[in-house]
Amino acid sequence: MKNASPWLVMLLGLALVGVSSSLAQQKPKMPADFVFEQKGESPGKATFSHEKHYEQFPKCTECHTKIFKMKRGTTEGPWTMARMEKGELCGTCHTGEKKGPKGQVILSIKDKNNCTRCHIKA
Ligand code: HEC
Ligand code: HEC
Ligand code: HEC
Repeated sequence: MKNASPWLVMLLGLALVGVSSSLAQQKPKMPADFVFEQKGESPGKATFSHEKHYEQFPKCTECHTKIFKMKRGTTEGPWTMARMEKGELCGTCHTGEKKGPKGQVILSIKDKNNCTRCHIKA
């Protein structure tokens, strides 16, 4: 039984390594869902959910900082649907043609049935 304790120490050590690596895979801290300042004739306040996009893109670099700055209100405006239709801002992905990483067609900004998916009715 003399050799039991070093083995026990090693097993405990391995268990700890397991715990810390699963902690490392936990979700990063990200902002809560937010609404954009409503402009023009928009059908309602546009919302954005980091949580829902994280399910699609675990890598923050998918959007930051190529598409969006990492501080609210600092991405170069104006935030218009015209720009989005040209493939900028949310329209980088929400074209109705591009597919998400899980294979589904990403909801289109052009489809009238989708306006209120982003623009929540007040
Ligand atoms: C699908 C695109 C997208 C992804 C992916 C994304 N973000 Fe963002 N993030 C945004 C947008 C849009 C804004 C607002 C930019 C603006 O207002 O100019 C933002 C803003 C932020 C802000 C600023 C919040 C504030 O109140 O100023 C932080 C911090 C942030 N994101 C962190 C993250 C982290 C961490 C991840 C990865 C887990 C991530 N983001 C992934 C789109 C994204
Ligand atoms: C993928 C999300 C998304 C979808 C889908 C979407 N929008 Fe937007 N829209 C935004 C964001 C973000 C803004 C900028 C913030 C704001 O002005 O409310 C915006 C801004 C606007 C504006 C004000 C700026 C401008 O372009 O004049 C109007 C009007 C508008 N949207 C109309 C629509 C209509 C109509 C639809 C459906 C055909 C639609 N949007 C679908 C996200 C979306
Ligand atoms: C890097 C690509 C990318 C960008 C940029 C992006 N999205 Fe998305 N978004 C996705 C994918 C992928 C999905 C999941 C497929 C779907 O539901 O269409 C999604 C889903 C959504 C949904 C539906 C969420 C649900 O499950 O109900 C909304 C609403 C949305 N995005 C709004 C926005 C808004 C607003 C912006 C701009 C501020 C934006 N997205 C920018 C890729 C993107």
